[in-house]
Amino acid sequence: MCGIVGVKGIKNPQDFLLEGLKELEYRGYDSAGIALIDEGELKVIKAVGKLKNLEEKVKNVTFSNPTLGIGHTRWATHGKPTELNAHPHIGEFSAVVHNGIIENYQEIKKELEKENISFVSQTDTEVIVKLFEHFYEGDAFEAFKKTFEKIDGAYAILLITEKEPEKIFFAKKGSPLIVAKNEGKFFFASSDAPLIGYANTAHYVEDGEFGYVDSFKPLPANKESAKKGGFRFYMEKEIYEQYDVLKENTLGRNTKDGIVFDELDKSFFEGINNIIISACGTSYHAGLVGKYLIERDAKIRVDVEVASELRYRKPLLSKDTLFIVISQSGETADTLETLKMAKKAGLKTLALCNMDNSSIVREADRTILLRAGIEKGVASTKAFATQVMTLWMLSNYLADKNEYEIINQAIEATKVNSKIHEKIKRLSKRYLHGHGFFFIGRDIFYPLALEGALKLKEISYIHAEGYPAGEMKHGPIALADPELFVVALLSKNILFEKTKSNIEELAARDATVLTVSSEEIELTDDYVKISLANHPMIEFFEMMVITQLLALEVAIRMGNDVDMPRNLAKSVTVE
Ligand code: G6P
Repeated sequence: MCGIVGVKGIKNPQDFLLEGLKELEYRGYDSAGIALIDEGELKVIKAVGKLKNLEEKVKNVTFSNPTLGIGHTRWATHGKPTELNAHPHIGEFSAVVHNGIIENYQEIKKELEKENISFVSQTDTEVIVKLFEHFYEGDAFEAFKKTFEKIDGAYAILLITEKEPEKIFFAKKGSPLIVAKNEGKFFFASSDAPLIGYANTAHYVEDGEFGYVDSFKPLPANKESAKKGGFRFYMEKEIYEQYDVLKENTLGRNTKDGIVFDELDKSFFEGINNIIISACGTSYHAGLVGKYLIERDAKIRVDVEVASELRYRKPLLSKDTLFIVISQSGETADTLETLKMAKKAGLKTLALCNMDNSSIVREADRTILLRAGIEKGVASTKAFATQVMTLWMLSNYLADKNEYEIINQAIEATKVNSKIHEKIKRLSKRYLHGHGFFFIGRDIFYPLALEGALKLKEISYIHAEGYPAGEMKHGPIALADPELFVVALLSKNILFEKTKSNIEELAARDATVLTVSSEEIELTDDYVKISLANHPMIEFFEMMVITQLLALEVAIRMGNDVDMPRNLAKSVTVE
């Protein structure tokens, strides 16, 4: 996830570019850069690290009369965060910034290399500017059109060229892009925060649109609501973002011909008979889902460990074990220490991580980046979705299994249904008292129950536990009474009858039960209906959204600060 900005028609465009990038910095901050046309000539300034490094560099550049420019703040996906890999990418007379992923860049790169066109970066973006210059024969718009016909993937692109120094070219597919106007001035940005105060009308560029625009819509009135996109909390925004984030997570990986991980090759798994997954918190719950999937499909034994326990219990680590760590932040101290311990014992290591260049990514042999974007809510939602999805793809990869369509259907299932959200909002008022919650489920719905309970307790401060549905009768059922709330995750595809019996056992003892299922269970008190699906992972992702919304709505009714719950931290770098 990166941020892009552009501007034409104001004095000192570099000031707007830097200010705009500051607004977008939360989206990515491993490098940044700007390109301007100054007296017909391209000037490009880039810096690694936070934006202040770029600001320092820009201070030392003398400008004559720059008329327009583009800028970018990067969150690395292809290639390390170096200055060469930072945007804007340049050719001989043009510069481009890009947000998204060009899926067929390797193919294009090979074709251009055959024509003796060379590349300096490891990024997918560089092919855009090289293609554009390759196609250029006197008409920049024609060359831009051809470029854009050739590339596949997701993108928001801004391009400037010395050949037509008064224009900013733009194209959009999949990644957000806004163009705003104020009299003769034009502003571009990947979200509206940088535009506020500069323009009063904006056009949200549609997929497939490129070139110039003429229809404008009003901008929100203040920056705070713009950043939250109209949502009450970042957590709510992040729940709604899961559909897009999963698209990005699976882009170029879930293909019609099976799973492709550019980061891995099959030889990496040679000699591997076991897997240990080590993680904390929500990431640990994702790991548990991975165990069910990988053992069932790839037939490789998987142990999932809470990192703070694994770290001190002198575990047996044999070299035929692949050690996987899962972490949103890449900085969790306990997880990092177990990774170091595994490396010391000579194990191959793989990180599933959301933060490129984090300590965990630097330490692991290989990394699959989660591409969830910056997660601001302390209670993890979209990162969890990408962790589970990545483990599912990994399981397909190891099992040589192709679930292309099912994966896409599961992504569809994360689109928030406004009627269901409304229903959960209404239901939530009935669950604010009592002596606690049990979330129950079987198979992959058991780790989802653990995660659902964690979400609720993290932000509502109500006691909640996740439990295997079949285990309730071995103790916890003693707590059943009308003030005990049970959220039952009932799959149509896995152990339906058995889970249903467990729910009925609780209902018979007068617990208050909320069932989440595609089939209504008469005896339960409340019911949230999901779509009928023929694969448990599709149900999983739909139920995941429902448990997240339930936690959110209960916490909002309790008057809590959902994004910054008491006593918690987003990144726990202490043991
Ligand atoms: C903290 C966060 C949790 C997170 C856990 C592990 O406790 O509040 O949301 O699941 O750390 O973090 P990681 O960054 O390693 O996934």
